[in-house]
Amino acid sequence: MEDTIKFIEEKIGTFRPEIAVILGSGLGELADEYSDIAIPYSDIPHFIKSTVQGHKGRLVFACIGGKNVVMMQGRNHFYEGHTMQEITYPVKVMKKLGVKTVILTNAAGAVNETFVPSDLMLIKDHINFMGANPLVGPNDPELGERFPDMTEIYKKDLIALAKDCAKNLGLELKEGVYFANSGPSYETPSEIHMARLLGADAVGMSTVPEAIVANYCGMNVLGISCISNAASAHDGEKLSHEEVIDTTNKAKEKFKKLVVKIIQSL
Ligand code: HPA
Repeated sequence: MEDTIKFIEEKIGTFRPEIAVILGSGLGELADEYSDIAIPYSDIPHFIKSTVQGHKGRLVFACIGGKNVVMMQGRNHFYEGHTMQEITYPVKVMKKLGVKTVILTNAAGAVNETFVPSDLMLIKDHINFMGANPLVGPNDPELGERFPDMTEIYKKDLIALAKDCAKNLGLELKEGVYFANSGPSYETPSEIHMARLLGADAVGMSTVPEAIVANYCGMNVLGISCISNAASAHDGEKLSHEEVIDTTNKAKEKFKKLVVKIIQSL
């Protein structure tokens, strides 16, 4: 951690981010538009390179709407073969850099049948079905407790603020429970049926590990899913990563507007 922080501090000087945004599949453009300092993950000690199409793999620092922000343009996933601890390391780095609020974003499949592709969903809670937890292993009491509370990971006041921002922009927002599978295979129709029975509204392969670690470290979390495919895709039509990227590309303008407005209002 000391190596990582020292390296980043050499690049950013006195800049200190207060907000972090992790940009999901197809949603990385925000970090192209606002980029004061960009560091490829491959240059940062102990960071892992991003291997997924649609994920660039850079840590980007910028001032957006008067707020100092660090963005992850692309994230690492459990399905790439990294451990839960490895993929959540950047969240701990953000905490050390002084970040207070983390906005987690992703592309997700609809489980709720009223959702349609390119809808944006605020995450009100999650179900960790990944079969692993990022806090397994020795605990660092300086970061958080051994048995951390998870009753309000996605802070209600941040959800209210995001709704206000959407209203000001004339954007419709959904709200729901995000169900995380490990991937990389998409779900079978029966798995989607199960997720629906368990109370899920959207399904994806990310976000939950970072949300657990951010909450554990005492950071406030807001989660936004971009619905990239309909539930029906799981019940007949075939689903591909290209479709996911295509849809997030279509939704990215409203997504960017919303995230910028939220950052300004924080
Ligand atoms: N399932 C899991 N992950 C996803 C999906 C999906 O349908 N769409 C985008 N990411």
